[in-house]
Amino acid sequence: MTYKDGMAFQYLRETKYDREAIFRRDDLGQIPKPPIYKTYPEAPKTPLPRPPTGETENLWSILNQRRSRRRYTSEPISTETLSRLLWAIQGITLSAPGYQFRTAPSAGALYPVETYLSIHRVSDVKPGVYHFNVLDFALEEISLGNFGEYLSRAALGQAMAGRGALLFIWTAIVLRAMWKYRNRCIRYIFMDAGHIAQNLQLAATALGLGCCPIGAFFDEEINQLLQVDGEEETTIYLAAVGNLLA
Ligand SMILES: Cc1cc2nc3c(=O)[nH]c(=O)nc-3n(C[C@H](O)[C@H](O)[C@H](O)COP(=O)(O)O)c2cc1C
Repeated sequence: MTYKDGMAFQYLRETKYDREAIFRRDDLGQIPKPPIYKTYPEAPKTPLPRPPTGETENLWSILNQRRSRRRYTSEPISTETLSRLLWAIQGITLSAPGYQFRTAPSAGALYPVETYLSIHRVSDVKPGVYHFNVLDFALEEISLGNFGEYLSRAALGQAMAGRGALLFIWTAIVLRAMWKYRNRCIRYIFMDAGHIAQNLQLAATALGLGCCPIGAFFDEEINQLLQVDGEEETTIYLAAVGNLLA
């Protein structure tokens, strides 16, 4: 066996579209279609201020400045700043019959990626783990406490995961994309997550904040913190955000 027989290449081979494969039946059977929005109706809710959207920043200079930054001060960020970051990644920008379109593109407008936050230092929001309710533009409380140390350990000992003002945690609700795209959905889910993370880094840059995407983590340790099953909903990506250490 060589690397070419491993799961990575096998997956790419078996999920390629060609003019025949696209019409071939697979053996996955009927796949249920979950709702596009996840909500925690019983959770205490923190509404977020809607950020202004009319401002113009120089996109070209933001692209030029964007860098992964890993060292942060212990200064908190404001709720207004947090709401700008959240709007940048998943804000609803257009409503059409049956669809709401967002700032970042998504295959089939299915939006399989959910956002959770581990808040360490945000003014007026207690430290804890929260789910971002996209439709209501609000935070839903999952667990209170500062989970920074736990998250640094879960990110293979990368201190920045717990030392930023907050950590973005993205999960995939796999069936949200799978009912339509079958096994090929995994490709699209990670593409979606990439778009979201890039929006976050550009918004953080525009706001003068530091941000670093994190792909290295012990998956199940994060899933346990979020109380998700690690199969139908599983953590796929993280990003630390904080005030830049000069
Ligand atoms: C998918 C992905 C995963 C990453 N994971 C980590 C990580 O676990 N730890 C880290 O320090 N940086 C991580 N990074 C940041 C990269 O190291 C960084 O993007 C790269 O060095 C290029 O630097 P730049 O982003 O400043 O241009 C990741 C970036 C991407 C796109």
